[in-house]
Amino acid sequence: MTDTALHGKAFDSRGRVNREVRLVRHPDGALAVGDLEVVPAEMPVMAPGRVLIRNLLLSVDAATRLRLDPISPPGYLPALKVGEALAGMVVGEVVESDVEGFAPGDLVHHDLGYRDYALVDPGNQALGVAGSLAKLDSELGPPELQVGLLGMTGLTAWAGLFEVASLKPEDVVWVSAAAGAVGSVAAQLAKAHGCRVIGSAGSAEKVAYLTDTLGLDAAFNWRDGLDGPLAEFAPDGIDVYFDSVGGEHLRAALDQLRPYGRVALCGAIAGYDGQPPSAPENLFAATTKDLNLRGFLAGTFADRLPEARAHLADLWGSGRLTLDLARYEGLESAPQAVVDMLSGRTIGKCVVALG
Ligand SMILES: NC(=O)c1ccc[n+]([C@@H]2O[C@H](COP(=O)([O-])OP(=O)(O)OC[C@H]3O[C@@H](n4cnc5c(N)ncnc54)[C@H](OP(=O)(O)O)[C@@H]3O)[C@@H](O)[C@H]2O)c1
Repeated sequence: MTDTALHGKAFDSRGRVNREVRLVRHPDGALAVGDLEVVPAEMPVMAPGRVLIRNLLLSVDAATRLRLDPISPPGYLPALKVGEALAGMVVGEVVESDVEGFAPGDLVHHDLGYRDYALVDPGNQALGVAGSLAKLDSELGPPELQVGLLGMTGLTAWAGLFEVASLKPEDVVWVSAAAGAVGSVAAQLAKAHGCRVIGSAGSAEKVAYLTDTLGLDAAFNWRDGLDGPLAEFAPDGIDVYFDSVGGEHLRAALDQLRPYGRVALCGAIAGYDGQPPSAPENLFAATTKDLNLRGFLAGTFADRLPEARAHLADLWGSGRLTLDLARYEGLESAPQAVVDMLSGRTIGKCVVALG
Protein backbone atom coordinates (compact mmCIF):
# COMPACT_ATOMS: atom_id res chain seq x y z
CA MET A 1 0.00 0.00 0.00
CA THR A 2 1.32 3.43 -0.91
CA ASP A 3 1.66 6.55 1.20
CA THR A 4 -1.42 8.05 -0.41
CA ALA A 5 -3.51 5.19 0.89
CA LEU A 6 -1.84 5.26 4.30
CA HIS A 7 -2.63 8.96 4.60
CA GLY A 8 -6.21 8.36 3.61
CA LYS A 9 -6.18 10.38 0.39
CA ALA A 10 -7.30 7.46 -1.76
CA PHE A 11 -10.89 7.97 -0.57
CA ASP A 12 -12.88 11.12 0.09
CA SER A 13 -15.31 12.15 2.84
CA ARG A 14 -18.05 10.15 1.10
CA GLY A 15 -15.92 7.02 1.21
CA ARG A 16 -15.27 7.01 -2.54
CA VAL A 17 -12.09 5.11 -3.30
CA ASN A 18 -9.81 5.86 -6.21
CA ARG A 19 -7.12 3.75 -7.85
CA GLU A 20 -5.13 4.10 -11.05
CA VAL A 21 -2.92 2.02 -13.33
CA ARG A 22 0.65 3.33 -13.40
CA LEU A 23 3.76 2.55 -15.37
CA VAL A 24 6.24 0.84 -13.03
CA ARG A 25 9.10 0.69 -15.57
CA HIS A 26 9.49 0.92 -19.32
CA PRO A 27 9.07 -2.59 -20.74
CA ASP A 28 12.20 -4.54 -21.60
CA GLY A 29 10.81 -6.15 -24.76
CA ALA A 30 7.18 -7.24 -24.77
CA LEU A 31 5.00 -5.64 -22.10
CA ALA A 32 4.76 -7.75 -18.93
CA VAL A 33 1.97 -7.50 -16.37
CA GLY A 34 4.56 -6.39 -13.77
CA ASP A 35 5.48 -3.34 -15.86
CA LEU A 36 2.15 -1.88 -14.74
CA GLU A 37 0.64 -1.63 -11.27
CA VAL A 38 -2.77 -0.77 -9.86
CA VAL A 39 -2.31 1.52 -6.87
CA PRO A 40 -4.45 3.70 -4.62
CA ALA A 41 -4.47 7.26 -5.93
CA GLU A 42 -5.65 10.58 -4.67
CA MET A 43 -9.43 10.96 -4.93
CA PRO A 44 -10.01 13.94 -7.25
CA VAL A 45 -11.64 16.93 -5.57
CA MET A 46 -14.40 18.68 -7.48
CA ALA A 47 -13.32 22.07 -8.91
CA PRO A 48 -14.85 24.93 -10.95
CA GLY A 49 -15.26 24.18 -14.67
CA ARG A 50 -14.70 20.46 -14.15
CA VAL A 51 -16.74 17.27 -14.30
CA LEU A 52 -16.15 14.47 -11.80
CA ILE A 53 -16.71 11.08 -13.41
CA ARG A 54 -16.85 7.52 -12.11
CA ASN A 55 -15.36 5.38 -14.85
CA LEU A 56 -17.33 2.30 -15.92
CA LEU A 57 -16.00 0.71 -19.09
CA LEU A 58 -12.39 1.04 -20.24
CA SER A 59 -11.40 0.64 -23.88
CA VAL A 60 -8.11 -1.30 -24.10
CA ASP A 61 -6.38 -0.09 -27.26
CA ALA A 62 -3.23 -1.30 -28.97
CA ALA A 63 -1.89 2.24 -29.34
CA THR A 64 -1.58 2.54 -25.55
CA ARG A 65 1.63 0.52 -25.90
CA LEU A 66 3.21 3.32 -27.96
CA ARG A 67 3.43 5.54 -24.86
CA LEU A 68 5.08 2.97 -22.60
CA ASP A 69 8.56 3.11 -24.14
CA PRO A 70 10.93 5.95 -23.12
CA ILE A 71 10.28 7.69 -26.45
CA SER A 72 7.02 7.61 -28.40
CA PRO A 73 6.79 7.75 -32.23
CA PRO A 74 7.21 11.20 -33.82
CA GLY A 75 3.90 13.05 -34.03
CA TYR A 76 2.24 10.76 -31.48
CA LEU A 77 1.31 11.55 -27.88
CA PRO A 78 4.26 11.90 -25.49
CA ALA A 79 5.74 8.85 -23.77
CA LEU A 80 4.66 8.27 -20.18
CA LYS A 81 7.20 8.73 -17.43
CA VAL A 82 7.74 5.97 -14.89
CA GLY A 83 5.14 6.44 -12.15
CA GLU A 84 2.63 8.19 -14.43
CA ALA A 85 -0.91 6.88 -14.87
CA LEU A 86 -1.97 5.47 -18.22
CA ALA A 87 -4.65 7.24 -20.27
CA GLY A 88 -7.24 5.82 -22.63
CA MET A 89 -10.82 6.11 -23.79
CA VAL A 90 -13.43 5.16 -21.21
CA VAL A 91 -17.17 5.38 -20.63
CA GLY A 92 -18.17 6.79 -17.26
CA GLU A 93 -21.02 8.27 -15.27
CA VAL A 94 -21.04 11.91 -14.17
CA VAL A 95 -20.95 12.18 -10.38
CA GLU A 96 -20.67 15.97 -10.02
CA SER A 97 -20.55 18.69 -12.63
CA ASP A 98 -19.72 22.37 -12.91
CA VAL A 99 -20.03 22.36 -16.70
CA GLU A 100 -23.24 23.26 -18.50
CA GLY A 101 -24.67 20.31 -20.42
CA PHE A 102 -23.32 17.66 -18.03
CA ALA A 103 -25.37 16.51 -15.04
CA PRO A 104 -25.01 13.75 -12.44
CA GLY A 105 -26.09 10.43 -13.90
CA ASP A 106 -25.16 11.32 -17.49
CA LEU A 107 -23.15 8.68 -19.32
CA VAL A 108 -20.13 10.20 -21.04
CA HIS A 109 -16.94 9.16 -22.76
CA HIS A 110 -13.58 10.81 -22.27
CA ASP A 111 -9.89 9.94 -22.31
CA LEU A 112 -8.88 9.63 -18.66
CA GLY A 113 -9.35 5.91 -18.34
CA TYR A 114 -7.17 3.52 -16.30
CA ARG A 115 -8.53 4.97 -13.01
CA ASP A 116 -11.74 4.64 -10.99
CA TYR A 117 -12.52 8.37 -10.88
CA ALA A 118 -11.45 11.18 -13.18
CA LEU A 119 -11.75 14.95 -12.86
CA VAL A 120 -12.17 16.08 -16.45
CA ASP A 121 -11.58 19.52 -17.92
CA PRO A 122 -13.70 19.50 -21.09
CA GLY A 123 -11.24 21.83 -22.82
CA ASN A 124 -8.06 19.91 -22.10
CA GLN A 125 -8.04 16.39 -23.49
CA ALA A 126 -4.97 14.16 -23.48
CA LEU A 127 -5.89 12.18 -26.59
CA GLY A 128 -6.86 15.10 -28.81
CA VAL A 129 -10.20 15.91 -30.39
CA ALA A 130 -11.31 12.27 -30.47
CA GLY A 131 -10.88 12.07 -26.70
CA SER A 132 -13.06 15.07 -25.93
CA LEU A 133 -15.59 14.77 -23.14
CA ALA A 134 -18.97 14.01 -24.74
CA LYS A 135 -22.30 12.64 -23.64
CA LEU A 136 -23.34 9.21 -24.86
CA ASP A 137 -26.52 9.12 -26.87
CA SER A 138 -28.58 6.52 -24.99
CA GLU A 139 -30.63 5.87 -28.13
CA LEU A 140 -27.50 4.52 -29.81
CA GLY A 141 -27.32 1.56 -27.46
CA PRO A 142 -25.45 0.40 -24.35
CA PRO A 143 -21.92 1.59 -23.41
CA GLU A 144 -20.50 -1.73 -24.69
CA LEU A 145 -21.64 -0.76 -28.17
CA GLN A 146 -20.56 2.84 -27.98
CA VAL A 147 -17.06 2.20 -26.67
CA GLY A 148 -16.28 0.01 -29.68
CA LEU A 149 -18.45 -0.51 -32.71
CA LEU A 150 -20.11 2.92 -32.65
CA GLY A 151 -17.10 4.71 -31.12
CA MET A 152 -13.48 5.18 -32.13
CA THR A 153 -13.02 1.54 -33.14
CA GLY A 154 -15.83 1.76 -35.66
CA LEU A 155 -14.75 5.19 -36.88
CA THR A 156 -11.18 3.93 -37.46
CA ALA A 157 -12.37 1.01 -39.59
CA TRP A 158 -14.92 3.12 -41.47
CA ALA A 159 -12.54 6.01 -42.19
CA GLY A 160 -9.70 3.69 -43.19
CA LEU A 161 -11.82 1.87 -45.75
CA PHE A 162 -14.06 4.54 -47.19
CA GLU A 163 -12.10 7.78 -46.76
CA VAL A 164 -8.51 6.54 -46.98
CA ALA A 165 -8.74 3.49 -49.25
CA SER A 166 -11.75 4.67 -51.30
CA LEU A 167 -13.31 1.21 -51.08
CA LYS A 168 -15.30 -0.08 -54.06
CA PRO A 169 -17.60 -3.13 -54.09
CA GLU A 170 -15.48 -4.90 -56.72
CA ASP A 171 -12.30 -4.68 -54.61
CA VAL A 172 -10.44 -7.70 -53.27
CA VAL A 173 -9.47 -6.69 -49.74
CA TRP A 174 -6.96 -8.06 -47.24
CA VAL A 175 -7.46 -7.08 -43.59
CA SER A 176 -4.71 -7.91 -41.08
CA ALA A 177 -5.28 -8.40 -37.33
CA ALA A 178 -8.78 -9.19 -38.58
CA ALA A 179 -9.99 -10.86 -35.38
CA GLY A 180 -9.10 -7.76 -33.34
CA ALA A 181 -11.24 -4.73 -32.61
CA VAL A 182 -10.55 -2.45 -35.57
CA GLY A 183 -9.73 -5.33 -37.94
CA SER A 184 -12.93 -7.28 -37.32
CA VAL A 185 -15.06 -4.21 -37.97
CA ALA A 186 -13.07 -3.32 -41.11
CA ALA A 187 -13.35 -6.86 -42.47
CA GLN A 188 -17.12 -6.99 -41.96
CA LEU A 189 -17.63 -3.49 -43.36
CA ALA A 190 -15.76 -4.46 -46.52
CA LYS A 191 -17.78 -7.66 -46.79
CA ALA A 192 -21.06 -5.77 -46.37
CA HIS A 193 -19.89 -3.41 -49.14
CA GLY A 194 -19.74 -6.35 -51.53
CA CYS A 195 -15.98 -6.94 -51.53
CA ARG A 196 -14.17 -10.25 -51.50
CA VAL A 197 -12.45 -10.17 -48.10
CA ILE A 198 -9.45 -12.12 -46.85
CA GLY A 199 -8.57 -11.87 -43.18
CA SER A 200 -5.43 -12.84 -41.30
CA ALA A 201 -4.96 -13.51 -37.61
CA GLY A 202 -2.54 -15.25 -35.28
CA SER A 203 -4.20 -18.56 -34.30
CA ALA A 204 -6.28 -21.41 -35.72
CA GLU A 205 -9.15 -20.42 -33.40
CA LYS A 206 -9.14 -16.89 -34.81
CA VAL A 207 -8.95 -18.13 -38.39
CA ALA A 208 -12.08 -20.24 -37.78
CA TYR A 209 -13.74 -17.20 -36.18
CA LEU A 210 -13.05 -15.11 -39.28
CA THR A 211 -14.68 -17.52 -41.69
CA ASP A 212 -17.34 -19.18 -39.52
CA THR A 213 -18.52 -16.26 -37.38
CA LEU A 214 -17.64 -13.17 -39.40
CA GLY A 215 -18.32 -14.82 -42.77
CA LEU A 216 -15.13 -13.72 -44.55
CA ASP A 217 -14.36 -15.33 -47.89
CA ALA A 218 -11.00 -16.70 -46.71
CA ALA A 219 -8.71 -16.46 -43.71
CA PHE A 220 -5.23 -17.60 -42.73
CA ASN A 221 -2.82 -17.69 -39.81
CA TRP A 222 -0.03 -15.17 -40.43
CA ARG A 223 2.31 -17.23 -38.22
CA ASP A 224 2.30 -19.93 -40.94
CA GLY A 225 3.37 -17.49 -43.67
CA LEU A 226 1.91 -14.65 -45.70
CA ASP A 227 2.81 -15.00 -49.38
CA GLY A 228 1.47 -18.54 -49.91
CA PRO A 229 -2.04 -17.93 -48.51
CA LEU A 230 -2.35 -14.55 -50.22
CA ALA A 231 -1.41 -16.08 -53.58
CA GLU A 232 -3.85 -18.92 -52.95
CA PHE A 233 -6.82 -16.82 -51.81
CA ALA A 234 -6.24 -13.88 -54.15
CA PRO A 235 -4.64 -15.42 -57.24
CA ASP A 236 -5.17 -12.23 -59.27
CA GLY A 237 -3.89 -9.97 -56.49
CA ILE A 238 -5.54 -7.59 -54.03
CA ASP A 239 -6.87 -4.06 -54.51
CA VAL A 240 -6.96 -2.85 -50.91
CA TYR A 241 -4.86 -3.70 -47.86
CA PHE A 242 -6.11 -2.53 -44.45
CA ASP A 243 -2.87 -2.54 -42.48
CA SER A 244 -2.82 -2.80 -38.69
CA VAL A 245 0.51 -4.62 -38.56
CA GLY A 246 3.21 -3.08 -40.81
CA GLY A 247 6.60 -4.78 -41.31
CA GLU A 248 6.44 -8.14 -43.10
CA HIS A 249 2.66 -7.87 -43.55
CA LEU A 250 3.07 -4.63 -45.46
CA ARG A 251 5.90 -6.15 -47.51
CA ALA A 252 3.62 -9.04 -48.51
CA ALA A 253 0.79 -6.66 -49.39
CA LEU A 254 3.05 -4.55 -51.62
CA ASP A 255 3.96 -7.72 -53.52
CA GLN A 256 0.32 -8.78 -53.92
CA LEU A 257 -1.31 -5.44 -54.68
CA ARG A 258 -2.60 -4.88 -58.19
CA PRO A 259 -1.81 -1.64 -60.08
CA TYR A 260 -3.61 1.37 -58.54
CA GLY A 261 -4.14 -0.56 -55.32
CA ARG A 262 -4.68 1.30 -52.05
CA VAL A 263 -3.31 0.77 -48.56
CA ALA A 264 -4.88 2.22 -45.41
CA LEU A 265 -1.96 2.50 -43.00
CA CYS A 266 -3.93 2.18 -39.78
CA GLY A 267 -1.26 0.82 -37.46
CA ALA A 268 2.02 -1.09 -37.29
CA ILE A 269 1.63 -3.33 -34.25
CA ALA A 270 4.45 -5.65 -35.34
CA GLY A 271 6.78 -2.92 -34.12
CA TYR A 272 4.95 -1.83 -30.95
CA ASP A 273 5.69 -4.47 -28.36
CA GLY A 274 9.43 -4.91 -28.11
CA GLN A 275 10.19 -5.72 -31.75
CA PRO A 276 11.99 -3.01 -33.73
CA PRO A 277 9.72 -1.50 -36.40
CA SER A 278 10.76 -2.64 -39.84
CA ALA A 279 10.14 -0.91 -43.17
CA PRO A 280 9.28 -3.03 -46.22
CA GLU A 281 12.27 -3.43 -48.53
CA ASN A 282 9.97 -3.47 -51.58
CA LEU A 283 8.47 -0.02 -51.05
CA PHE A 284 9.43 0.86 -54.64
CA ALA A 285 6.44 -1.31 -55.68
CA ALA A 286 4.33 1.70 -54.71
CA THR A 287 5.91 3.55 -57.61
CA THR A 288 6.01 0.77 -60.16
CA LYS A 289 2.36 -0.20 -59.49
CA ASP A 290 1.02 3.31 -58.95
CA LEU A 291 -0.15 2.46 -55.46
CA ASN A 292 -1.65 4.81 -52.92
CA LEU A 293 -0.38 4.26 -49.37
CA ARG A 294 -1.94 6.62 -46.86
CA GLY A 295 -1.54 6.79 -43.12
CA PHE A 296 -4.35 8.22 -41.02
CA LEU A 297 -5.50 8.92 -37.50
CA ALA A 298 -9.14 8.28 -36.74
CA GLY A 299 -9.26 11.57 -34.84
CA THR A 300 -8.73 13.40 -38.13
CA PHE A 301 -12.17 12.14 -39.11
CA ALA A 302 -13.88 12.99 -35.81
CA ASP A 303 -16.32 15.30 -37.61
CA ARG A 304 -17.47 12.31 -39.69
CA LEU A 305 -18.40 10.27 -36.62
CA PRO A 306 -22.18 10.84 -37.00
CA GLU A 307 -22.05 9.63 -40.62
CA ALA A 308 -19.85 6.65 -39.76
CA ARG A 309 -22.08 5.82 -36.80
CA ALA A 310 -25.22 5.90 -38.92
CA HIS A 311 -23.63 3.48 -41.40
CA LEU A 312 -22.32 1.17 -38.65
CA ALA A 313 -25.56 1.28 -36.65
CA ASP A 314 -27.58 0.44 -39.73
CA LEU A 315 -25.46 -2.66 -40.44
CA TRP A 316 -25.48 -3.63 -36.76
CA GLY A 317 -29.26 -3.25 -36.59
CA SER A 318 -29.72 -5.54 -39.57
CA GLY A 319 -27.40 -8.16 -38.08
CA ARG A 320 -24.67 -7.71 -40.71
CA LEU A 321 -22.07 -6.33 -38.32
CA THR A 322 -20.96 -7.44 -34.89
CA LEU A 323 -18.11 -6.69 -32.51
CA ASP A 324 -17.40 -9.35 -29.92
CA LEU A 325 -16.05 -8.21 -26.58
CA ALA A 326 -13.11 -9.65 -24.66
CA ARG A 327 -14.31 -8.47 -21.25
CA TYR A 328 -12.16 -8.24 -18.12
CA GLU A 329 -13.60 -7.42 -14.71
CA GLY A 330 -12.21 -4.74 -12.37
CA LEU A 331 -9.42 -2.18 -12.70
CA GLU A 332 -7.04 -4.71 -11.14
CA SER A 333 -7.33 -6.81 -14.31
CA ALA A 334 -6.35 -3.93 -16.63
CA PRO A 335 -2.59 -4.80 -16.79
CA GLN A 336 -3.43 -8.38 -17.79
CA ALA A 337 -5.97 -7.14 -20.33
CA VAL A 338 -3.40 -4.89 -22.04
CA VAL A 339 -0.82 -7.70 -22.17
CA ASP A 340 -3.37 -10.20 -23.52
CA MET A 341 -4.62 -7.82 -26.21
CA LEU A 342 -1.10 -7.00 -27.41
CA SER A 343 0.01 -10.62 -27.50
CA GLY A 344 -3.04 -11.76 -29.46
CA ARG A 345 -4.98 -13.59 -26.74
CA THR A 346 -8.17 -11.53 -27.23
CA ILE A 347 -10.83 -11.71 -29.92
CA GLY A 348 -12.83 -8.60 -30.79
CA LYS A 349 -12.77 -5.48 -28.66
CA CYS A 350 -10.87 -5.71 -25.37
CA VAL A 351 -12.61 -3.87 -22.52
CA VAL A 352 -12.34 -3.71 -18.75
CA ALA A 353 -15.54 -3.30 -16.74
CA LEU A 354 -14.75 -1.08 -13.74
CA GLY A 355 -16.48 -0.80 -10.42
N1 LIG B 1 -4.98 5.01 -37.00
C1 LIG B 1 -5.77 5.09 -35.95
O1 LIG B 1 -6.36 6.14 -35.63
C2 LIG B 1 -5.98 3.88 -35.12
C3 LIG B 1 -7.01 3.83 -34.16
C4 LIG B 1 -7.19 2.63 -33.44
C5 LIG B 1 -6.34 1.57 -33.66
N2 LIG B 1 -5.35 1.68 -34.59
C6 LIG B 1 -4.45 0.57 -34.87
O2 LIG B 1 -5.24 -0.56 -35.21
C7 LIG B 1 -4.52 -1.72 -34.85
C8 LIG B 1 -5.41 -2.64 -34.02
O3 LIG B 1 -5.69 -1.99 -32.80
P1 LIG B 1 -6.82 -2.52 -31.81
O4 LIG B 1 -6.83 -1.58 -30.66
O5 LIG B 1 -8.04 -2.78 -32.59
O6 LIG B 1 -6.21 -3.88 -31.28
P2 LIG B 1 -6.65 -5.41 -31.58
O7 LIG B 1 -6.58 -5.62 -33.06
O8 LIG B 1 -7.90 -5.73 -30.88
O9 LIG B 1 -5.47 -6.21 -30.86
C9 LIG B 1 -4.21 -6.20 -31.42
C10 LIG B 1 -3.98 -7.46 -32.28
O10 LIG B 1 -2.84 -7.30 -33.10
C11 LIG B 1 -2.34 -8.57 -33.44
N3 LIG B 1 -0.86 -8.58 -33.37
C12 LIG B 1 -0.09 -8.30 -32.30
N4 LIG B 1 1.22 -8.42 -32.63
C13 LIG B 1 1.24 -8.78 -33.93
C14 LIG B 1 2.29 -9.06 -34.84
N5 LIG B 1 3.58 -8.99 -34.48
N6 LIG B 1 1.96 -9.41 -36.11
C15 LIG B 1 0.66 -9.49 -36.49
N7 LIG B 1 -0.37 -9.24 -35.66
C16 LIG B 1 -0.08 -8.88 -34.40
C17 LIG B 1 -2.88 -9.57 -32.42
O11 LIG B 1 -3.81 -10.44 -33.06
P3 LIG B 1 -3.35 -11.81 -33.79
O12 LIG B 1 -3.52 -12.91 -32.80
O13 LIG B 1 -4.29 -11.90 -34.91
O14 LIG B 1 -1.93 -11.66 -34.22
C18 LIG B 1 -3.65 -8.69 -31.44
O15 LIG B 1 -4.81 -9.28 -30.96
C19 LIG B 1 -3.25 -1.26 -34.13
O16 LIG B 1 -2.20 -1.23 -35.06
C20 LIG B 1 -3.61 0.13 -33.69
O17 LIG B 1 -2.50 0.95 -33.49
C21 LIG B 1 -5.16 2.81 -35.30
